[in-house]
Amino acid sequence: MNNLLLFIMLVLMLWDNIYSQNSLKEISDISLSPVDAFEKYCARCHGYEGADYEKEFEELTEEKLKTFVEDMMFGPASLNPTGIEIEAMTAYNKSIQNKKPFAAALNSKSFLEGKDRNLIINISPGSEIYVSEKEKIKIEKEEKIWKLFYNYEKISKLKIIVKRNSVISSFIFPDELWCK
Ligand code: HEC
Repeated sequence: MNNLLLFIMLVLMLWDNIYSQNSLKEISDISLSPVDAFEKYCARCHGYEGADYEKEFEELTEEKLKTFVEDMMFGPASLNPTGIEIEAMTAYNKSIQNKKPFAAALNSKSFLEGKDRNLIINISPGSEIYVSEKEKIKIEKEEKIWKLFYNYEKISKLKIIVKRNSVISSFIFPDELWCK
């Protein structure tokens, strides 16, 4: 019985290890910040924060939403997005659907590799960021771009909360790169 438990624990540890290595490899920086790109390339047809979206927009499944976002980015917006940029823009549109504030980490790879000293977060207009390790983190804010200065080796997981009026959403960095 004890051996079996030990075996299960070992498998779980190995799995966790392989999983986190994989996900680190898959991370890449986002140069097309979703909130700013939406205002720049999508709002002229869909309004500020999607105010002019058709009624059906609210009922789109995540899969359909992603297909639309991808087609729109390559099509009318004339962008050339990477996979992660399409995912981030889809997540932002999902937060518009749910009427929730949004935040996405832009330079995750550079930050985790130690090339950047701060983590850059893009947030939806009118929102504010709160972090779980407030006293250990210096924050520089400028409208929709917030920079968090901290040592990733010391604070390995950070809960990033974004709040607008009384509505909040959050994500745990670096397990997640944006609000889901
Ligand atoms: C030149 C105008 C134009 C631009 C720019 C544009 N779209 Fe669209 N978009 C449309 C039109 C027209 C439709 C509806 C046509 C259709 O169903 O294919 C649409 C449909 C959509 C839909 C489906 C929901 C709905 O309201 O029908 C989504 C989601 C969407 N666009 C997202 C985006 C995003 C994200 C961007 C920016 C990357 C963007 N669009 C840029 C014109 C535009």
